[in-house]
Amino acid sequence: MNHLDEIRAKIAIEDLVGGYVQLKKAGRNLKGLCPFHNDTHPSFMVSPEKGIGYCFACNNGGDIFKFIQLIEKVDFPAAVKILADKAGVRLPEFKPEAHNEKLRMLKVNEQAAEFFTEQLRSSESGMKYFKDRGLSEATIKEFQLGLASDSYTALRDYLKKSDFDEKFLLEAGLISQRSIADKSTFDRFRNRMMFPIHDQQGNVVGFGGRIIGEGEPKYLNSPDTPVYNKSFVLYGLHLAKEAIKKEDLAIFVEGYMDVIAAHQAGTGNVIATSGTALTTPQLRLIKRYTRNIAFAFDADSAGAEATKRAIELAQEAELNLRIILIPEGKDPDECIRKNPDAWKQAIKKAVRVMDFYFSHAFSLYDAKDIDGKKAILNMLLPLIKQTTSSVEQNEHLKRLAYELKTEVKFLWEDMKKLESRKTYQPVAGTEVPAPQKEVFSREEFLLGFIMDRPELYEIVHSNLIDVAGFDPVTEKIYKTLKRVYNSRSIVELRELQGELSEEERQRLSILPLLIEEYYPDFSEEAARKEVMSLIRQINKKNLRASQKEFEFRIREAQDSGERTLLLNQYSQILKLANKL
Ligand code: UTP
Ligand code: MN
Repeated sequence: MNHLDEIRAKIAIEDLVGGYVQLKKAGRNLKGLCPFHNDTHPSFMVSPEKGIGYCFACNNGGDIFKFIQLIEKVDFPAAVKILADKAGVRLPEFKPEAHNEKLRMLKVNEQAAEFFTEQLRSSESGMKYFKDRGLSEATIKEFQLGLASDSYTALRDYLKKSDFDEKFLLEAGLISQRSIADKSTFDRFRNRMMFPIHDQQGNVVGFGGRIIGEGEPKYLNSPDTPVYNKSFVLYGLHLAKEAIKKEDLAIFVEGYMDVIAAHQAGTGNVIATSGTALTTPQLRLIKRYTRNIAFAFDADSAGAEATKRAIELAQEAELNLRIILIPEGKDPDECIRKNPDAWKQAIKKAVRVMDFYFSHAFSLYDAKDIDGKKAILNMLLPLIKQTTSSVEQNEHLKRLAYELKTEVKFLWEDMKKLESRKTYQPVAGTEVPAPQKEVFSREEFLLGFIMDRPELYEIVHSNLIDVAGFDPVTEKIYKTLKRVYNSRSIVELRELQGELSEEERQRLSILPLLIEEYYPDFSEEAARKEVMSLIRQINKKNLRASQKEFEFRIREAQDSGERTLLLNQYSQILKLANKL
């Protein structure tokens, strides 16, 4: 038992909450007025069995630690201290090793960045590359751009002199090993223009390297490391955050050069993902600065596809969204080089999502041809149906009728015939409140069902295709669950908790309560059905996410063997996607 478990064992949630709120028995649980919002009838639920107190009206609460954090407005370590004192548990000394390891990794990345900038300074052709691409000295400095020369050992040998050993450099993703058999190492980045990737505080956490001239992959990125998780980092955010707040708008572009060109042109509220498609955690990150975002992706079909996927994510995250259509050139970088004013005008003229879908549909298909019309309707009607008000639907249909030279009433009929594509709501028991959007995901409901009824795990295990669309915390929980189950054939809450971080434990512990709240008295049969329906929806979303991920990995593959392997897996994913 570690000291946190010891505290948990000594302090009952109902006693702790009972010290702040009057609780009354309600079945297996207790209820009281929620201390976290202006509550008029008792909606704070306490489950002694599960050690959790939670309010599903304001979505606040958790275990004893979380409760103290919230009610005393302190951070986790402080909450642990308060409760340890209360329970008479002596805390062990803080061990800063993991922390030190991360600091060292930031340091080695910073030194590598300095090495690359130094190489750039002393290379005439390197400086010419960036100058030819229109970058000023100041911009090169601001983004800490650099050069990795055509050497297999320059960086490695330089960093070894600063006492970083090869094992550490491997972990930092700065060098690679030749193969499993041949463990000799070499610099990961060679003959590339270097773009350091910073976290939002401005620490270098990784690199993107562009091949000089032609070659594959065009951009090579650092792998994920203890300080770099691609799904959580936005390129350029450390420089863009002030402008994003000031403009109350964040503009997403696809590439490193797009970000840099935009900043140099005076539009500083521009950021990009690096080496990955847009993720939900990245949207959460940006939400700290603004709720308004715009996508300015490349003006080709891949860019339009990326826009479509990103739109869905942004809508799930409840962000206000506009689409910027690139007026000249293939991407923002080219547009800015040709005509910076056109870029700025395009930002001002950013269109709504439905306008984007209209222009996309009409650019793909021929509106004069009957098959073209059908394809346009197939694409647009379901989207129009999803919009919430019938006034809005009518506006879109009027426009569509005009462009297709038909009558609105036919379009209304066609649209009504479409099977309604539900936004997620639990089935059965009609008085069940729909889960508040964005607060709990389908994945969390799915895990909740498993925690509530472990026998459902088998269904999930044999039907869930991939976890690509899970957020990192639910992914970790699911994978741990799977591991524990595979070795012991049971789903044991206690056992899982031992393998999770504090944040993950908090999320996990709310899950079974979630089911009690949203699916009270669900029969075995109804639960089974609901789980199958959740899995189907998650599979669909996952496949789309992993499709994009594979496209990136294929582009980045280091050798043809790896590429063939990835292409095989990719074609399997496409087959599955077509079946669903
Ligand atoms: P693009 O292929 O559109 O490149 O990739 P670009 O930004 O226009 O590059 P330039 O102008 O030719 O130098 C867009 C982004 O996708 C990621 C990179 O983040 C890149 O900036 N990418 C692209 C990779 O991670 N790997 C690749 O092999 C290619
Ligand atoms: Mn480009």
